[in-house]
Amino acid sequence: MPSVEFQEANVTVTAKEGDDLRKIAHKNKVSVYGGPNKYLNCRGFGLCGTDRIAVDPKDCVTPPTWKEKLHLGDNPKMRLACQAKLVGDAKVSVEPALEYGEQMKEDLAFYAVAFVFGGATLFFVIFMLFEMIGKPLF
Ligand code: FES
Repeated sequence: MPSVEFQEANVTVTAKEGDDLRKIAHKNKVSVYGGPNKYLNCRGFGLCGTDRIAVDPKDCVTPPTWKEKLHLGDNPKMRLACQAKLVGDAKVSVEPALEYGEQMKEDLAFYAVAFVFGGATLFFVIFMLFEMIGKPLF
C-alpha cells in the first residue's frame, strides 16, 4: 500500500491504491480546504475547485481529469484532492488550498458588502418610483 505524507499536518499514512486524496485526508482528519471553503465545497464532486493541493511526485496520482483542467487550467503544480487518485507514494501540500481559502474570504466580504448596499439602493429606487406615481408603499 502506498504512503501519503501530508506535509503541513505532519501526518504520514498508508492508503489503498485508487483512493482519492480528499478521501484519504478526510479519513485521517487532515483538511484540504482553507477559510470558508471548509463549509462551502462540493464534497468531492469536482465542481467547486476548492481542494487545491500540490502533489510530489506528479506520477504518484492519476492524470488530471477534465474537471481539474477546467478549474486549474494547465497548471502542472496543482491538483484537486477529490480528483487525484493515489497510485504511488505521495507528498501532499495543502498550501494552495489555504491560499485559495484566504482569497475566497476576501471575495466573500466584498460580495456581502455589495449585496447589502445593492439591495438597499434597489429598495430605495423602487420606493421612490412608487412615491412618484402617487402610490406609496407604506
Ligand atoms: S471538493 Fe469540490 S472540487 Fe474537490
